[in-house]
Amino acid sequence: MCGIVGYIGEQEAYPILIKGLHRLEYRGYDSAGVSMINKAGVLSVYKSKGKVSALEASVADKDISGTIGIAHTRWATHGEPNATNAHPHFSQSKNLSLVHNGIIENYKSLRTELEKNGMTFCSETDTEVLVQLIEYTQITHNCDLYTAVQLALKSVIGAYAIAILDKRNPDQLICARKGSPLIIGVGANNGKKNGKAEFFLGSDATPIIEYTNKVVYLQDEEIAIMNREGDLRITNLSNVKQTPQLHTLQMNLDELEKGGYAHFMLKEIYEQPSALKICTKGRLNVNDKDVLLSGIIDHKEKFVNARRIIICACGTSWHSALIGKYFIEEAAQIPVEVEYASEFRYRNPVIFPDDVVIAVSQSGETADTLAAIQLAKSKGAFLYGICNVIGSSIPRATDSGTYLHVGPEIGVASTKAFTGQVITLIMLGLAIAKEKKTLSDELFHMLVDELQQIPDKMQWTLDHNKGIDQFAQMFTYARNFIYLGRGYNYPVALEGALKLKEISYIHAEGYPAAEMKHGPIALIDEEMPVVVIAPKRGMYDKIVSNIQEIKSRKGKIISVVTEGDTIVKGMSDYCFEIPDTRDCYVPLLAILPLQLLSYYVAIAKGRNVDQPRNLAKSVTVE
Ligand code: AGP
Ligand code: GLU
Repeated sequence: MCGIVGYIGEQEAYPILIKGLHRLEYRGYDSAGVSMINKAGVLSVYKSKGKVSALEASVADKDISGTIGIAHTRWATHGEPNATNAHPHFSQSKNLSLVHNGIIENYKSLRTELEKNGMTFCSETDTEVLVQLIEYTQITHNCDLYTAVQLALKSVIGAYAIAILDKRNPDQLICARKGSPLIIGVGANNGKKNGKAEFFLGSDATPIIEYTNKVVYLQDEEIAIMNREGDLRITNLSNVKQTPQLHTLQMNLDELEKGGYAHFMLKEIYEQPSALKICTKGRLNVNDKDVLLSGIIDHKEKFVNARRIIICACGTSWHSALIGKYFIEEAAQIPVEVEYASEFRYRNPVIFPDDVVIAVSQSGETADTLAAIQLAKSKGAFLYGICNVIGSSIPRATDSGTYLHVGPEIGVASTKAFTGQVITLIMLGLAIAKEKKTLSDELFHMLVDELQQIPDKMQWTLDHNKGIDQFAQMFTYARNFIYLGRGYNYPVALEGALKLKEISYIHAEGYPAAEMKHGPIALIDEEMPVVVIAPKRGMYDKIVSNIQEIKSRKGKIISVVTEGDTIVKGMSDYCFEIPDTRDCYVPLLAILPLQLLSYYVAIAKGRNVDQPRNLAKSVTVE
């Protein structure tokens, strides 16, 4: 939610800020704004409703010069998306401008107090309170801005990543964070490029990587000040100096581009076979028939002796966690609970010190998931993170973990991260099973062999399911969809339904197929498309009966079947084929046509698939 970009250096700030906003636009896109200080010392703020391109158009005739600036793309929490509520926000004197990602929970009481003391407000946001509070603190304490930020943030409850410009000090940039992410990019030569200092700010590394791969991850309750001399000073809120830890990023700029595809989502769908090859590289060892996850190897005993595994996640990550539960319980014989992080964190759950708590999160920044593991940590559980974004908050808050390594996922609808999470959880289940000796050697080897073939079978699935674009046109009329699956494919039904909902805005529900007769079957009529995942495996006969029940009520059947199937194919109005594989690996193939179906239905309905309404890629607020 919300993307922040900042720059101080020798170059013109505006092009760097705008490019950065475009890269961060997946995080929020209801309004955007920039603020710069020009040579004459004028602090400007330009904001507009809508996408970053609308902001660009609106500043076409404005002075956008300046070598220091901050920018923001918003996902509104407090106050409707309009130009007034967009960031940056000015302080009352217009000496300061500020951008913010997060939520200030006590903003009402702070605002009332500030208003009593004569500060006036222009917007409905919680953010404006921050800039006014900082200004008010500076005036009343007669201190420098850095000290004022420190003091002001002490009275703030909530989450923030902020960046501030001060018209009176055009040679310094100040930022701070708690709960929301913020990264400082250090220009070549430790902030000095050809002897010239240069620093970048970003909510993630994507606006920075083009200029430098040296970054510092700001920690919670830290404040940083950067200047044109190349000094970077970081302290905590109590003014204790912190030593900046410089990290080198391994990210390829090409990964942030669409690479010829119409949308990031489509690119990411088609990338899955190669992304999963990279994800499993060095981890699935087919010659030795082994699974090597370093995060587990170093903490074997925690998993072997675990009383229970609890997986906390949200959205799509919750769906992959459910597949992980089925597999880990089956293969490693450890009870696994899957929790919505947002529920878990607030319901005083029973957590034992010999529990292993796994956080699954693409972004590694989801506020609820982060809070859930912090709760588990306070109860002494061992924490394991399965995340995609390197250096994000969850991997840094956990005791150990595994990165997905599927590359940056930019489309708001998660696709390759889902299959990356599923295959990682399967590898984790296999690694524990090996330690616990819960599988015979023969079965273990078969599972490793088959898993290694999955990326090629994914490629087959993508190659053999052309024409979904044409077929999808037939379903733009639908107001509802039902998705059904059993066993490992029940979470696939949930995920297929979520994909359709979030990008086409068609209501969709996923159910365990056998649950239909307990109520939802009442919804079936000739208008209702029903997507059924029916591979020729495990519960095939049962699902054939479930399809029959729907057909008898005139529902339209769209099925996902094993290559060569004739029975379900004969009962279906449309059918996607996948190669045969073991039950536990079917989700990795079955989800692909469902991702494409949601993509093409959304396209046929003229939706913005990469940036669907009301959504943001990483949910860093509760
Ligand atoms: C997926 O398509 C969604 N946009 C959303 O459900 C997402 O999976 C969820 O917000 C969790 O995000 P995370 O994996 O980054 O924690
Ligand atoms: N709370 C701020 C606003 O509504 C920032 C929102 C966010 O970070 O998502 O403007």
